[in-house]
Amino acid sequence: MKIKNFFSKFFYKYIPHNANFVNAIKLLKANQFGLSVKEFREAYKHDKNKKYLAYLLSASSSFHNVAASIDETINLCREYKEVFGGDRVFWNFYGRCWLDVCEKDFLADEADKCFSKAIEISEGKHADDWYGLGMVRQFQQRYNEAADCYLKSIECDSTFVESQFRIWSMYQDGFINDNFGIEPLKKSGKYLMDFDFNDLDKISRREVIEARKIKEFGTIVFRNVIKQDCFLRSLKEEILTYTATYDYNKSFIAPYDHAPSVLKKKIQKIIDNKIFNKLLPLVSEWNDNGWKPFQNPSWWLQYMPVLDKESQILTGNRSTTPLGEIVGRPSGYATPLHQDNPVNCQFSDWQTFWITLDECGPGIAPSIRVLTIPIRSPIDPLEEELGRINSVKANLISIFFDKAMVKIKAAPGDVVIFGRYMLHQTFYDSNMALPRNSIDLRWVTGPSVPKEMLYL
Ligand SMILES: [Fe+2]
Repeated sequence: MKIKNFFSKFFYKYIPHNANFVNAIKLLKANQFGLSVKEFREAYKHDKNKKYLAYLLSASSSFHNVAASIDETINLCREYKEVFGGDRVFWNFYGRCWLDVCEKDFLADEADKCFSKAIEISEGKHADDWYGLGMVRQFQQRYNEAADCYLKSIECDSTFVESQFRIWSMYQDGFINDNFGIEPLKKSGKYLMDFDFNDLDKISRREVIEARKIKEFGTIVFRNVIKQDCFLRSLKEEILTYTATYDYNKSFIAPYDHAPSVLKKKIQKIIDNKIFNKLLPLVSEWNDNGWKPFQNPSWWLQYMPVLDKESQILTGNRSTTPLGEIVGRPSGYATPLHQDNPVNCQFSDWQTFWITLDECGPGIAPSIRVLTIPIRSPIDPLEEELGRINSVKANLISIFFDKAMVKIKAAPGDVVIFGRYMLHQTFYDSNMALPRNSIDLRWVTGPSVPKEMLYL
């Protein structure tokens, strides 16, 4: 029986058989994107197969610099549409690609066609399609029509907070006259999961599935991932030595590139033993299908200094920066609420791993504040100037999501994991007497296009 299943799975995946395609799949799963693109192209050249083109599309759009790859992705979508037509999932994906085109180049008519087609095919049953069309209408400044689209998406799925937020923020900006009774979010906590790394073997399958589901949109905290022993102490010493040489006046972030090799090795040890081998398999949806996680692009070290009580500016032993005075940034938050990968068209798994090396949290040291409810689309603060469509003032994002956010209290060696769209920010308060050091890692795994397009 097992042998039969193995063969049926094998043939299901690889018929019509093509050596280039089989090789390309292996390369794609190992995150060798450039090489897999070549192989998929070759496979598609010999056999104009819909699945081959979908995989080529997935490999081509797997790079995370969307600005660099979006033109190629759109060209492949165009070919897909012309040769094979498209179903709802494709049209939604194609529409999302257009939403990722920078504002100056955004072609609303193209996105309009895509989302309208998706709505037509599914008879308006998918919240995500209406949300996409709402984004187009909002960009066109057809605000009342945008509100209608967002309302329709809420009718399809009452938990679609992005649509609620868009209506509320358009009302706050004076673009529409009715807020349809939508208020800022009132409570959360349901989606914050908190595990002890020492209990990893005891965590039930059910919890793992739940964690994966929540990870996609929510937040998980793992306690005691790195033991508080001499390794952690020596790691911190290495980090302090390195970061002392770095100019924090602008970003408070020290990159991988300039780090000494001893430090790189120590952090790599954590990545190999704890992140790659233990946590990623647990929280990655695609791990069971053989997709290897891809670290993107590397790691950063973050240093958050103490807030000086008298001057109310953040001050450390290396620099002083009045972060609280940055326009549009509420006092108490060193960064605006943001998402780490606010890209519409990439469906692959994504996790940010945030590792604190100091005790932190309210009244202790600067920590992070995270949203704990599902969110499925980019919401960009206007002040970040990312050039994406329908950016919103950071303070409106803060007000709407405020009650649904948690200020994490964590100890050295704890890891916080969240998905690509999870809104979060650094926070500090005047009672904090200590600075905080942390490591920030991002990982991706799985195909870039929706799994339905790959028949997975
Ligand atoms: Fe971030």
